[in-house]
Amino acid sequence: HTVFVLNGPNLNMLGKREPGIYGGQTLEAIADDCRKLGAELGLEVDFRQTNHEGVLIDWIHEANDKAAAVLINPGAYGHTSIALHDALRAISVPSIELHLSNIHAREEFRHKTWTAPAVKGVICGFGADSYLLALRAATTLIK
Ligand code: DQA
Repeated sequence: HTVFVLNGPNLNMLGKREPGIYGGQTLEAIADDCRKLGAELGLEVDFRQTNHEGVLIDWIHEANDKAAAVLINPGAYGHTSIALHDALRAISVPSIELHLSNIHAREEFRHKTWTAPAVKGVICGFGADSYLLALRAATTLIK
């Protein structure tokens, strides 16, 4: 099984970007950890990042044909994008939203995501471990 791990805007800056909030790991290091855990779980991890909303939507559609599950850290588009909500609802493979930071403990404008009602569940607040926890959750969804 293949799992798409999709990352939205500004996540390419991890490591340099507000490390007090997002941790010191780069996105590439997180991708490596996901691939390693994926191998243990028998999952192929296709890990991607884009700063463009429409590209995320194309990848979600692509997942419908190619993936058994979608993990998405939508970044700030989670808070703004009804198009992402619609795309996640349009596919028949299960999806999980994740965030490094605990969005509920931060500014009010981060408390709501449009994507949350369109996915199976949301994991946030565990730093890079949010990705690994979501990958484990995906294994259960795929079974
Ligand atoms: C984030 C949380 C969002 O509010 C923020 O816009 C991000 C990162 C996270 O992983 O904690 O870009 O998705």
